Amino acid sequence: MQLAFPELTVAQPASVLSAPAPYRGLYAFHKYWGKKPAEPLRYLIEHVSPDGGLVVDPFLGSGVSVLEALQAGRRAIGIDLNPAAVRISRLLAAPPPADVARLALETVAEGAKEQILDSYRTVGGKIATHFVWDGTSLAKVWVQAREGRTRAELTPCEEDLALLNSFASYRPRLLRNLRFFKNSRINCYPDLSLNDLFTGRALRNIDLLLARISDLPPAAREAMLLSLTAAVGQMSRMVFAITNRGKASGRDSGRMEVGSWVIGYWRPQQHFEVNVWNCFERRADKLVKALSSCACAHGPAVAGTIAKVCDGGAKYAIVQGNSLEILPSLPDRSIDLVLTDPPHSDRIPYLELSELWNAVLGETPSFEPEIVVSNARERGKTEREYTKAMLHFLQICAPKLKESGSLVLFFNARERTSWAYLDRFLPKAAETGLTYSGCFPLVYSASSVVQDNRDGAMKTDYGLVFSRFGRGAGFLVGIPGWVCEMPKPKT
Ligand SMILES: C[S@@+](CC[C@H](N)C(=O)[O-])C[C@H]1O[C@@H](n2cnc3c(N)ncnc32)[C@H](O)[C@@H]1O
Repeated sequence: MQLAFPELTVAQPASVLSAPAPYRGLYAFHKYWGKKPAEPLRYLIEHVSPDGGLVVDPFLGSGVSVLEALQAGRRAIGIDLNPAAVRISRLLAAPPPADVARLALETVAEGAKEQILDSYRTVGGKIATHFVWDGTSLAKVWVQAREGRTRAELTPCEEDLALLNSFASYRPRLLRNLRFFKNSRINCYPDLSLNDLFTGRALRNIDLLLARISDLPPAAREAMLLSLTAAVGQMSRMVFAITNRGKASGRDSGRMEVGSWVIGYWRPQQHFEVNVWNCFERRADKLVKALSSCACAHGPAVAGTIAKVCDGGAKYAIVQGNSLEILPSLPDRSIDLVLTDPPHSDRIPYLELSELWNAVLGETPSFEPEIVVSNARERGKTEREYTKAMLHFLQICAPKLKESGSLVLFFNARERTSWAYLDRFLPKAAETGLTYSGCFPLVYSASSVVQDNRDGAMKTDYGLVFSRFGRGAGFLVGIPGWVCEMPKPKT
């Protein structure tokens, strides 16, 4: 398998830690929650681990650390509990050729496009691109104006309402039901259903896409399924309308713009229903384009089991499961660098927020082993449990590092209590052979949507560096904002 990834080909300077570029190419394909920028990860991999060394990310998310490690000529192991994360990461690590994805999109278009577009047909046979909803009433129908890129905004007519009503009682056939807990933080509850989050028309159209995609051969199917996960939030009633965004400050432009699905299951009073075909095609096309621009092949990247990667028989493994159970299977003193962005306490309940994606993928993950603090009481995911699990994680990791090994942990949490596992680990770190070297601020990518805007929230993550046997921190020279103390949360 050729690893064809387009991103970083030159050694990264320390300045990338404070000014990462927006996501490009394949990294821009999917907005997995809490994505980290590529450049700083690459910088750390290049400076902290040796050529051919083993880099492990036990909380992999969308795969950036494994991909950067492979690009830098290291072996890599990535683990995540979330099937959506693992499947995105595997697609990016072993992407299909652009032609396979292009043909897949054409095949889905042949089988489903016309029928989907027909469900948006409005006056004069035009196809609506967007519907503006005000609560449960259809307020506007947008169609593409004939000239330029401007749109025409129409008042809904009888035919629009009749067409819409013809799908009102549609129940999804190929999407499994969503499993929710009562969590006010992200606005969900056990009864919340797909029919609350989508119009019947959108659900019928998603079913049509899923039916066509399921007929594709495996590699093409996976590329299209993941394109659908990347687009599905934008097909929902959770797309808010942005108003009053005047160009001259303080002036209301009166123009409405299309927002995007943001963290949580909020259905704003004023929201959009976006044409499902357009959403899907845009994402799938983005993937095809990113694959076409994968110019360089950096040699064979053979995927294998964790054991194979450890003994050098394979380059990488991306594994779905609980890190606390999987990490102990690695040999002691085998890892050069643990580079990871673990769950940040109550910032993002990943599995709850990935329900839509996992439903599209036909996955039903187990919520029980997730390390997280969730407002959903029923889950029992408290700060206390979180502290215990994270402390356990550090204790498992320490003996797996080589004598010269390091652990870099990205962390950011508003409440002092969320740092308790570090407060408890630090005094005993020396017993595990690890020494805390210091930390530096890690700025988010410009296009990241993970900023915590709550009062007292930290505006960057911190890269917390631990080295085995106090090996020294020579590689840290030149990192902007480096300090030897722990960051201090305000509350
Ligand atoms: C902060 S995110 C990582 C995001 C990643 N840095 C990226 O760029 O996409 C933390 C990840 O930990 C995963 N996770 C939570 N508990 C886990 C467990 N027990 N074992 C493995 N992964 C877990 C979540 O599914 C989530 O993807």
